[in-house]
Amino acid sequence: MGTSAPFASNAPLADRIGTEEVIVVRDLCKAFGANKVLQGFDLTVRRGENVMVLGKSGSGKSVLIKCIVGLLRPDNGSISVLGQDTLALDPEALDRLRVKIGFLFQSSALYDSMTVRENLEFPLRRHWIAQEGNDREALVHEALENVGLMNAIDMYPSELSGGMRRRIGLARTLILKPEIVLYDEPTTGLDPITGKEIVELILRLQQKYATSSVIISHDLNVAKLAANRIAVLYEGRNHAEGTYDELRAMTDPSVKQFFIFM
Ligand SMILES: Nc1ncnc2c1ncn2[C@@H]1O[C@H](COP(=O)(O)OP(=O)(O)OP(=O)(O)O)[C@@H](O)[C@H]1O
Ligand SMILES: [Mg+2]
Repeated sequence: MGTSAPFASNAPLADRIGTEEVIVVRDLCKAFGANKVLQGFDLTVRRGENVMVLGKSGSGKSVLIKCIVGLLRPDNGSISVLGQDTLALDPEALDRLRVKIGFLFQSSALYDSMTVRENLEFPLRRHWIAQEGNDREALVHEALENVGLMNAIDMYPSELSGGMRRRIGLARTLILKPEIVLYDEPTTGLDPITGKEIVELILRLQQKYATSSVIISHDLNVAKLAANRIAVLYEGRNHAEGTYDELRAMTDPSVKQFFIFM
């Protein structure tokens, strides 16, 4: 890792962003009892784009991506993923669509009783695609090489550091080569150097597999290095949107609060 050139721009790969809208969220509403979490949230992600959602703890960021991936059902609004209306899909069609969506959970969510190899094989077994030349062992090796952890293949999660677990989680998320990746707090709980390494890894993998991503974070390194565009989730809505520099220049206190340490 450390050998890669520093990222000169805060709009990584902006030239590769297409016009196709791979995620379109409109007027999304989700409440839990009296707790109105999302109150008309809108978001668009284009092919090849990294969109970051910035919001304080409890603002509904995880709820948003759980709605996008179909783990939570919104009360109102619409979600289109790769041209499909996810709320109208039957469970089988939703399952087929989910193969194209990688989800990196806020905790790495590795299975403690399984080795790294078994953890990586898990999605392959579950969604095994009977394609010729799909060699399970080769995919596991490629995934581990991508995150620089080939030597951890026979280790258990309890034997890994936090940063290593996050990388293995990333390898598992990407092993099915999803078109879309949803990252929930990929750097939270890591030291700044390891966090930056994870951000660089996300960028390299975006480049290698041409993924489109939603990145949930409150890490300004993520904002600066990995986001083509940032949406501020505030009071249940997409309150402000722009590049890192555009948001940083805003005087609106609900946006400015995220940039006070810069
Ligand atoms: N399954 C659930 N049942 C009831 N309430 C929930 C559920 N999931 C989330 N909530 C509530 O929705 C709100 C938003 O939660 P969410 O996990 O999306 O926050 P977040 O923005 O991801 O915060 P953090 O930065 O701390 O991860 C919180 O008030 C939370 O208590
Ligand atoms: Mg969360």
